[in-house]
Amino acid sequence: MYCASHWKEFAEHGRTTSLVQFLPSAHVPEHTHPLGEEIFVLDGVFSDESGDYPAGTYLRNPLGSKHATFSKEGCSLFVKLDQFNPLDFKTVCIDTKQQQIQTGIGQLKVLSLHQYKTQGTALVFWPAGEKFQPHRHWGGEEIFVLEGEFKDEYGSYPKGSWLRSPHLSEHFPYVEEDTLIYVKTGHL
Ligand SMILES: [Fe+2]
Ligand SMILES: [Fe+2]
Repeated sequence: MYCASHWKEFAEHGRTTSLVQFLPSAHVPEHTHPLGEEIFVLDGVFSDESGDYPAGTYLRNPLGSKHATFSKEGCSLFVKLDQFNPLDFKTVCIDTKQQQIQTGIGQLKVLSLHQYKTQGTALVFWPAGEKFQPHRHWGGEEIFVLEGEFKDEYGSYPKGSWLRSPHLSEHFPYVEEDTLIYVKTGHL
């Protein structure tokens, strides 16, 4: 994938996690994802030849898939490349703003986006004042804070923060304000 941004422009490849910005009218010629591409649209509208994906869309383009991408108005994406299980060939496209979020543990509300063996991706809404139990991350945990501010005993992580907690790490998370996080588990 190519990144069109005011930070820098580069051809992205290999096992990477990145924030990608498409400036208005930016486009990327047809390209193949030999090891898969996972995208969450943070703002704007991202497009390819199959459709338009507004902010809040979750996409999985499996191993060997290809597309040409563009954005008329510009958009920002959270992208993970080459991090698919080699047997996971499912294409996924979910407009999370059109989905019903489910009740999870405690007062948490969870929208599951993808699950394959030990790996899972979900949106989790934390209402103000919610505390989760101390826990250990089997296979690691990665979080991108979409709204509000996520906290644990190590620090505070406002909107736009990215946390990557390795296999067997532990923490005791909580929030003081309404907070929405994008969470990936079991892949590290
Ligand atoms: Fe792509
Ligand atoms: Fe955690």
